[in-house]
Amino acid sequence: MNIVIFGAPGSGKGTQSEGIVTKYGINHISTGDVLRGEIKGGTELGKLAKSYIDEGQLIPDELMIKILASVLDSFKESKGVIFDGFPRTIPQAEALKKMLKERDQDITVMLDLEVPEEELMKRLILRGKESGRADDNEETIKKRLLVYHTQTAPLVDFYKTEGTYQYIKGIGTIDSIFDSICRAIDSKK
Ligand code: AP5
Ligand code: MG
Repeated sequence: MNIVIFGAPGSGKGTQSEGIVTKYGINHISTGDVLRGEIKGGTELGKLAKSYIDEGQLIPDELMIKILASVLDSFKESKGVIFDGFPRTIPQAEALKKMLKERDQDITVMLDLEVPEEELMKRLILRGKESGRADDNEETIKKRLLVYHTQTAPLVDFYKTEGTYQYIKGIGTIDSIFDSICRAIDSKK
């Protein structure tokens, strides 16, 4: 089972991935977490990633696809993967499709967490105050939302064409959203 969890910055991809990993016993790849790990480790990749993340811009596709493939290959005997924050562009979606095909697999479901913009802003500003992710300030959040609308949102049509798209209402309690997610997964499995 391979799941793409999709949505704007702050839509709850990371939060909901935790529950999905526990319930379905699959691996989790958050490309944002991978990049933040590299930044923390002070690696060359981390330095490069930081220059994009701090500006709210996407890391170039070719590099991101290489990173994704190496994380995917590190999972042995996996029951499946939840992709969180990847794909974010059409070339990334095409690369993921190809990568899975080469492994005799495909995407089971794409979950699109829909959350109104003012709620996204509220959640991220709050998180910026509490835990301090460097890109959770008003100016960078606005850039991330713009990047989402221009480069990432077109993937909705991509996955509708693939037949794996599922709309999820992303507001309400974490538990109630999780229930809708499980229903969507179970209907596609
Ligand atoms: P990434 O780390 O993926 O960030 P993002 O997409 O901007 O999303 P977030 O992680 O901020 O939000 P989320 O949807 O996970 O929500 P969360 O559960 O945390 O990417 C960061 C950067 O890395 C990018 O800008 C880019 O530079 C780079 N990058 C990453 N992937 C890339 C790729 N594929 N290609 C190129 N570049 C890439 O929730 C948010 C907050 O809301 C939390 O505080 C949470 O507690 C709260 N919350 C969650 N659910 C609810 C709820 N139901 N009600 C109230 N609050 C809630
Ligand atoms: Mg996240």
